[in-house]
Amino acid sequence: MTPLPDVSRLHRIPERFAATLASCGLTTSFLHANAEPGDDLRGPLRLTRAATYRDDAASIALRLFMGGFHEPWHDQSLYDCGLLTADGQNAHCPFHLRLVDHLYLISDYLGAHDDAVMGAGETTELLYQAAKPEGFAGAVLDLGCGAGTIALLLARRADHVTGTDISHRAIAIAEANARLNGITNASFLTGDCLEPVQGRQFDIIVSQPPYYPADRAGQQVFLSGGPRGDEIARRVILDCPPHLTEEGRALILSSWHPDAAVPHPPNTRVLELYTPVGDVPGTRQSLVILEPAAGDPWFDRFEVPGECWGSIRPHRIDELMRTRQWLRHPHGHLQFTTGASTFTEGQQRFVQARAESLLPTRAISEEEWFALQNPNTAPDPLKRHLVALGWLIPK
Ligand SMILES: C[S@@+](CC[C@H](N)C(=O)[O-])C[C@H]1O[C@@H](n2cnc3c(N)ncnc32)[C@H](O)[C@@H]1O
Repeated sequence: MTPLPDVSRLHRIPERFAATLASCGLTTSFLHANAEPGDDLRGPLRLTRAATYRDDAASIALRLFMGGFHEPWHDQSLYDCGLLTADGQNAHCPFHLRLVDHLYLISDYLGAHDDAVMGAGETTELLYQAAKPEGFAGAVLDLGCGAGTIALLLARRADHVTGTDISHRAIAIAEANARLNGITNASFLTGDCLEPVQGRQFDIIVSQPPYYPADRAGQQVFLSGGPRGDEIARRVILDCPPHLTEEGRALILSSWHPDAAVPHPPNTRVLELYTPVGDVPGTRQSLVILEPAAGDPWFDRFEVPGECWGSIRPHRIDELMRTRQWLRHPHGHLQFTTGASTFTEGQQRFVQARAESLLPTRAISEEEWFALQNPNTAPDPLKRHLVALGWLIPK
């Protein structure tokens, strides 16, 4: 197993080192122009040919910090904290450094060692997008925060974020990421599941716990979710309700053993958006959304392709929660889904929605068309049909 880079001195990482990287020109648009798309978290970024030989500051920084190259760099503080190691006249960066939504985040390259700390993967970004509040949140918890990616991204939209992880190494890296981006409203705690935040409540809890079964994950801490793979996610769901404020919401991204039902803790509304084709062959992958529900607990699930989870913004999750609730208790006024519209082509009528709503444009009958214009006067079975399809939502 390849040894992992030392994190014991990372707390000395230069504060706001992000600003130095940005001033070198290592920006999102520069990356788009100079690195190949796609990043598998296991190796350096693949660079365009021009980026491998140009000698401007941005290209040198790109090669050194993200491309795995050995380049000269003369800032001693980066060697002192362990972000760079010396190699003759040159420096080398042993960490995986990436730019995610304007934050510079270090993590480990995955695969080389069981204790490697995961950076922002595709699922990380899907979960972040779904959890990102429309306005401003109070307290946020990122459970199993790894390099702190989601916590730090959400810190810009919250009073305070807390990241927890069972791995001391992950917490050291997450703290370094807060420091290098100059984020001061984040704190990180080591411990098992919710144990480090006993007695505390949050407006948003996000978690992408490890979800691979042990026989596939081996001893890799970021992957292994227990013998079946879904054990940690199950604990997080069962234990999180007392940690949510009255208006709070937990979003848990995981994969489930084919026999496993998502747990439904007492006094909660739970919505499971799932795809039968997950990262782990033979499992179902899902985004579980859980809210406290004093008088009206329910559980519901429906299939949504995984790649769409990131485009389910919080207002759409609200609509989905209200829709599933209405289908159980069909009371109250309905409205045409936000942002949807009808149009005609020749004799045929159609309904279409905003791109992020997950609803396909659909040919509709005259009766359906009339019901969409006058939802509350439509016959009950038709109302129910249109609510189930997502074209009508409860007010
Ligand atoms: C799949 S990674 C997700 C990392 C990060 N949240 C993200 O989305 O990029 C799972 C993380 O959960 C952590 N973890 C594993 N078991 C845990 C436990 N029992 N309690 C808290 N964290 C745990 C791992 O160390 C790892 O950082």
